[in-house]
Amino acid sequence: MLIMTLESSCDETSAAIIKDGDTILSNAISSQIPIHRRFGGVVPELASRNHVLAINQVIDDALSAAGCTLQDLEGIGVTSGPGLMGSLLVGIETAKALAYALDIPCVGLNHLEGHLTAVLLQQPNYTTPTFPYIGLVASGGHSDLYLVRAMGDYTILGRTRDDAAGEAFDKVAKMLGLPYPGGVEIDRLAASGDPEAIAFPRPMWTRKNLDFSFAGLKTAVLTHLQQHGIPEGQQLSDLCASFQAAVVDVLVMKTIAAAKQQKVPRIILSGGVACNSMLRQRMQEQAHKKKLEVFLAPPSLCTDNAAMLGPAAYYKLKDSSGTGFSHFDLQASSSMAPGKDARQPVKGPHR
Ligand code: KG4
Ligand code: ZN
Repeated sequence: MLIMTLESSCDETSAAIIKDGDTILSNAISSQIPIHRRFGGVVPELASRNHVLAINQVIDDALSAAGCTLQDLEGIGVTSGPGLMGSLLVGIETAKALAYALDIPCVGLNHLEGHLTAVLLQQPNYTTPTFPYIGLVASGGHSDLYLVRAMGDYTILGRTRDDAAGEAFDKVAKMLGLPYPGGVEIDRLAASGDPEAIAFPRPMWTRKNLDFSFAGLKTAVLTHLQQHGIPEGQQLSDLCASFQAAVVDVLVMKTIAAAKQQKVPRIILSGGVACNSMLRQRMQEQAHKKKLEVFLAPPSLCTDNAAMLGPAAYYKLKDSSGTGFSHFDLQASSSMAPGKDARQPVKGPHR
């Protein structure tokens, strides 16, 4: 089954052609990072306008790289949420118009489900996990832990109570005068820094509650900067490494705790923050000690892209009636597993 997937939930416009749900024939991405960089973050209005400008070209690129035409497509999957409303609309309306014109089915997909199942795509030198697995989605908008029992069967085990991990990276980078997206810059500078130079707090350091909180850590960095000024050179690298280690330690500890609690022997990492070199390394080291398997998506499938929607699109489309045009709407703040929330009730501030 040949499917086209479209992703436009934030600042990447992307189209992919996927065969049988797990084989990437093409994954065209137009990034708006240079456009938003001068504002230090994503400007929603600019994002949606630039999706409009990019989407047709990205679709053409995906089709030609895959060596096929629109007429070869048997279905379309598109991110319908969560994300920026204006940005989502561009992908959704394009997908619906194409599906209507081609008389093929079109399904709306959850962006988080895309991140969570990207590891199921075949990639050279990467093995794919079997079910069940624990999935950590760490991105600019989310720090979520899920139990994935099968396609479509997701239980939320923990999520951030304030800032997402990537948001904390981006905001700390902004305080340090580093360009957007900050996670990439902090990762680069941290490579030559000492992660133990500054003892930043590890927020919500408990295995019992799998929620995250990164706002207090961000404030700890701000307080440090107010007391010591913005560092340069080696001290800047040390600060980046120390902050990064605090985020990574919490993500690793809770992901492994989730696997132990659920008695699930494998873990997957995804979302933009899963590109982080220290996170990838420490997760593998700690999981190995606990005899857990770790599956890391290649960095190109961690940040936003349309190919990551392939498994979810295939799963939904193969069960759809086959023809016609299904109705779905934009869900800017959609939850992926309504009713399946295994988290403990919030008892108070944990910063
Ligand atoms: O998944 P993604 O592309 O978009 C969202 O769904 O949010 O994630 C983007 C986030 C940004 O916050 C960015 O700073 C972060 O991922 N990121 C990183 C790294 N690369 C991207 N964070 C830490 N280390 C990295 N190497
Ligand atoms: Zn994302």
